[in-house]
Amino acid sequence: MSDAAEVPPRARRVQGGSATADVVLSAHAGGNAALFPQILALHVPPGSVIADVTYGQGVFWQQVPKGLYHLLPSDLATGTDCRALPHADDALDAVVLDPPYMEGLLRPKAATRGGLGTHAGLRTYYAAGGAGEAPGGGRWHQAVLDLYLAAAAEARRVLRDHGILIVKCQDEVSANRQELTHVQIVAGLAELSFYARDLFVLVRPNRPGVARLLRQVHARKNHSYFLVFQKVPAGQAVSRYRSRDLPPR
Ligand SMILES: C[S@@+](CC[C@H](N)C(=O)[O-])C[C@H]1O[C@@H](n2cnc3c(N)ncnc32)[C@H](O)[C@@H]1O
Repeated sequence: MSDAAEVPPRARRVQGGSATADVVLSAHAGGNAALFPQILALHVPPGSVIADVTYGQGVFWQQVPKGLYHLLPSDLATGTDCRALPHADDALDAVVLDPPYMEGLLRPKAATRGGLGTHAGLRTYYAAGGAGEAPGGGRWHQAVLDLYLAAAAEARRVLRDHGILIVKCQDEVSANRQELTHVQIVAGLAELSFYARDLFVLVRPNRPGVARLLRQVHARKNHSYFLVFQKVPAGQAVSRYRSRDLPPR
């Protein structure tokens, strides 16, 4: 028999799937509560164990059907720092992280911290509960990044291989510098061996007001991001990792 006869015929490629416009989109106008369940539906299988480590008021979960996931909520305001979680190594399927995204909310002195006056609601809901110690490490915008990166390192510890980390963030102009926080987070988390699996842009449905405008230098931000990362197992290269389903336990 010749060599050629031993080569099996190539299987015919069958195209599956069906045409539809009913897909999850990357850009949304609206609020966190409407978008978050769509992100979960696309990236986290039902029944997964998910720690929301900056649970806050639980807005993200308002429209997620109860019992669909095993949710473990925590927050600095209720005594758990997202940089020192009470979970075992490799224990969780997914982690949700939404810490304060503006450096003004992380200033060490309560007197100069953002979220005063008409922004008091911001301080209550986005910072670490008002007058206490600010939770960041470095100064100015670096404090924001330090918190994200330290929390992501801790998330990596508690996530199992291929586990999902959902990060909420917003870019900011701080000290007259444009800080593209979402880019900095993607770069920083790649260093921590997280693969950037998806990105969602959320656009505010209303126009933000400006209290005192002398001369506009940068575009006023009216959008934020949900970034979806996947934990790359130790020893594998982030640059070669491909999106994959969470393997069964
Ligand atoms: C933007 S809010 C989170 C809102 C939340 N995703 C929701 O749906 O309501 C930020 C939260 O981060 C919490 N926080 C700030 N620093 C923290 C830290 N080091 N560890 C854990 N939570 C922290 C604040 O207490 C606040 O509840």
